[in-house]
Amino acid sequence: MKAIVTGASSGIGRQISIYLSELGYDLVLVARDIRNLREIQREIKTKAEIVAMDLTDRSNSWKLHEMYKNEPIEVLVNNAGFGIHGPVTETNLEKDLELIDLNITALHMLTKLFLADMKKRNFGYILNVSSIAGFLSGPLMAEYYASKNFVLSYTRAIHTELKKEGSDVHISVLCPGPTKTNFNKVANVNFNTKPYKAKYVAEYGINKMFDEKLVIIPGIKMKLVHIASKLFPNSLTRNVAYMIQKDKLK
Ligand SMILES: NC(=O)c1ccc[n+]([C@@H]2O[C@H](COP(=O)([O-])OP(=O)(O)OC[C@H]3O[C@@H](n4cnc5c(N)ncnc54)[C@H](OP(=O)(O)O)[C@@H]3O)[C@@H](O)[C@H]2O)c1
Repeated sequence: MKAIVTGASSGIGRQISIYLSELGYDLVLVARDIRNLREIQREIKTKAEIVAMDLTDRSNSWKLHEMYKNEPIEVLVNNAGFGIHGPVTETNLEKDLELIDLNITALHMLTKLFLADMKKRNFGYILNVSSIAGFLSGPLMAEYYASKNFVLSYTRAIHTELKKEGSDVHISVLCPGPTKTNFNKVANVNFNTKPYKAKYVAEYGINKMFDEKLVIIPGIKMKLVHIASKLFPNSLTRNVAYMIQKDKLK
């Protein structure tokens, strides 16, 4: 049993890797920081291969698929991602493009490439990591929220295709709320609410993925946010999102 986890060097991806190893999976750990990846490799009990690569470079998604297309990959977790905080005209355009390359393009490529292999075997699980932000518009984090909207919408659409085809390949989308990881450091903000533990989010996500649940939202509070996003108009929820994001700068 083998699983690929992107963004395995830290946070949610690190905990997902550890948990999949506890479940007996050999792993392919993908991220840029080779030292962190080696640490996880030493920590886990099953076999783990390290692929140190920058997934904002499109050629690396092709390369990752080339490396593993002939192996029976049972689980793919598209977790690598990051956020940028600030008004649209003040954030760096090159950084925005990197966000789109990682949060959208790499996730899209790896889903499409490995899904085709899984469909041939009629077996496998894909977990795409979106966010509670995937249900919302996010002023002051506009690109990030929009990227997570893509992940949610894309995954839901594929889920329906698979169901209509009667496929035994399963795809899920994990939509966590604030979680204690390196995410905030990278986005240069502070949480204004008590964050969830990465271990809880990771284990909840993997368990629900194996239960074949489509949209996975860890935590009661975040489930309520999801319900609110359906009940209240976008004009209201995006104003609330603005206040939350503005508060994060304090
Ligand atoms: N933490 C939260 O509050 C929260 C909430 C909702 C959703 N999420 C989502 O959860 C996912 C994991 O984030 P996290 O919270 O665990 O943050 P994190 O601790 O910063 O982890 C991000 C992971 O992505 C990898 N990564 C970043 N840029 C990369 C690149 N160019 N190429 C390859 N790998 C790259 C990082 O590894 P390297 O730096 O070693 O490359 C790291 O392993 C993200 O998709 C994030 O959007 C997080």
